[in-house]
Amino acid sequence: FIPPKAAGGGGGTTAKDELGNSVTASGWLSSHKEGDRSLVQGLKGDPTYLLVEGNDAIGSYGINAICTHLGCVVPWNSGANKFMCPCHGSQYDATGKVVRGPAPLSLALAHVSVDNDNVFLSQWSETDFRTGDKPWWA
Ligand code: FES
Repeated sequence: FIPPKAAGGGGGTTAKDELGNSVTASGWLSSHKEGDRSLVQGLKGDPTYLLVEGNDAIGSYGINAICTHLGCVVPWNSGANKFMCPCHGSQYDATGKVVRGPAPLSLALAHVSVDNDNVFLSQWSETDFRTGDKPWWA
């Protein structure tokens, strides 16, 4: 089995839902509202949040859900507008920037692109826009 590659566009890995089906932008936007942060399987199968920005737009970056402390998957808490790790209490803001330890680093980023209604994730190797630093994960 050879996984399908992106046809043109930015390349990368297709985002998959919990059943392993490829995520389409139209399908995702029909079932996820503005402000939503929900998980797909992303690069290397890592759980990754897609962001919904407006009625018709998926955010151009995804947030890797693996806590930078000891690797728990961090749930999104929409009431608190934060990602809050259940394991040892680390917190991250809505962009995944760490705001409370013990986590030492912000959540990793991935690029998100849409091509032909397919949602692709690719490696983020540029500056981390939240900190102005080089990405620790690249
Ligand atoms: Fe998230 Fe420890 S693994 S706070």
